[in-house]
Amino acid sequence: MSKVYVTRKIPEVGIKMLQDAGHEVDVSAKDGVLTKEELTTELKKKEYDAVLCLLTDQINGEIFDAAPSAKIFANYAVGYNNIDIKEAKKRGVTITNTPGVLTNTVAEHTMALMLSITRRVTEGDKFTREGKYKGWAPELLLGTDLKGKTLGVLGAGRIGYRVGYHAHKGFDMNIIYYDIKQNEHFEKDLSAKFYDTPEAVLKEADVVTIHVPLLPSTRHLINKERLAMMKKGAYLINSSRGPVVDEFALVDALKSGKIKGASIDVFEKEPELAPGLAELPNVVITPHIASATEDTRGKMSEIAAQNILDFLAGGIPENIIK
Ligand code: GLV
Ligand code: GLV
Repeated sequence: MSKVYVTRKIPEVGIKMLQDAGHEVDVSAKDGVLTKEELTTELKKKEYDAVLCLLTDQINGEIFDAAPSAKIFANYAVGYNNIDIKEAKKRGVTITNTPGVLTNTVAEHTMALMLSITRRVTEGDKFTREGKYKGWAPELLLGTDLKGKTLGVLGAGRIGYRVGYHAHKGFDMNIIYYDIKQNEHFEKDLSAKFYDTPEAVLKEADVVTIHVPLLPSTRHLINKERLAMMKKGAYLINSSRGPVVDEFALVDALKSGKIKGASIDVFEKEPELAPGLAELPNVVITPHIASATEDTRGKMSEIAAQNILDFLAGGIPENIIK
């Protein structure tokens, strides 16, 4: 029997899997993100063998040192920019994530973001609730069609592909994309065109959607200069990680009308928003919920638990970060 620490309540299914396998599972009782001090204090209470952590936990050398016997940290997310992988390697700690299962869920939310901003759904909702709707009018809240427009996908991983798939197959959009390496499925399945720089995509796309991981090389991938390269009247969608976009520069670009609108699920300093962002009518904001469906959050719980179970049984978990 091993001891497992879970940093916050997650869907029960994964917790139950760990318990059913005979492990002792402690779940943080706090309904919120543990501070660094709280997390280290918790981890020092017992000799934990495994930790199930969330994307809101900053996992670094100090945290690993607070749980020296925990040789696996299973992240409940596909992104793992919250974990210092170098420090983990130094200490021989295995890190896992939960890829695959959330690909379609995030892609669907990305389409929701895209449709909401181009068809002014949230703006129209607010307008109507505020009692401003006085009857049908020929030029009320005119939006933008997606059909025949060009979608620029930055980041050609599983999620980027799935968004391209929905946009091309479902909405007749043309797809162009950038990644550090070409993904032949884009060309074969989506008739997409590859560009070897993000700039080339930004100059041509009517809608840009971001699906890169957060790395030193992708921090502020979308900055003032690159926003200035976008077509006038283009839209920006971000369901990846907040710091990929310079949020201050985005607010300026939205204010000046340089870009027509943005839909974002992630923020540079979550949960804070850049000053002025929430006051803009041409932005749709959701609170980092792109993977938040009952099914997917449940499956993420199962996968994180399975990664721990495999590791504790002496096997090799399926989703190791290398
Ligand atoms: C969500 O943002 C994830 O990385 O799983
Ligand atoms: C995540 O699953 C990705 O590869 O985009």
